[in-house]
Amino acid sequence: MIKEKMLNALNEQINAEQYSSLLYLSMSAYFSNAGLPGFANWMYIQFQEEMTHANKFFKYVIERGGKVTLKTIEQMPVDFDGVIDVFEKTKAHEQLVTGLINNLVDVAIEERDHACQSFLKWFVDEQVEEEANVQEILDTLKLINGQGNGIFMLDREMRTRVFVDSTQTAE
Ligand code: FEO
Repeated sequence: MIKEKMLNALNEQINAEQYSSLLYLSMSAYFSNAGLPGFANWMYIQFQEEMTHANKFFKYVIERGGKVTLKTIEQMPVDFDGVIDVFEKTKAHEQLVTGLINNLVDVAIEERDHACQSFLKWFVDEQVEEEANVQEILDTLKLINGQGNGIFMLDREMRTRVFVDSTQTAE
């Protein structure tokens, strides 16, 4: 049976992943309204990915016989100051999530929960990829100054991103 401290931390993470999904959905709406369908697509897929992260935690808690406690999710930000601002905020958010995952690992070590340590490894690796992806886009955006023809080209590229549920392929 999962220990209470571990269970509480996992429930907090379900909430954090759900928050992430809605944050990116809100960013997707912002890009749609700004006439950038490719960026909107990229963020919509990000929203879907975060849902799979929340679901992965949800299923794990159930599997361990724990009680899932779904919490309130606060109002999302809706106003941003252009594409660079959105991706700066995405980067900051992913860094925050990396910190939360690291804290979860700390709790699993403290509680001597080896199963949970093993489960969390997927998320540790995922965060490396998430941060790298966002940094790459941010670097390109800064190179083209977040405007002009470069944005148009990048928007077309962002349109090609497709959703893949990586939680199902890397167990
Ligand atoms: Fe679920 Fe983007 O971290």
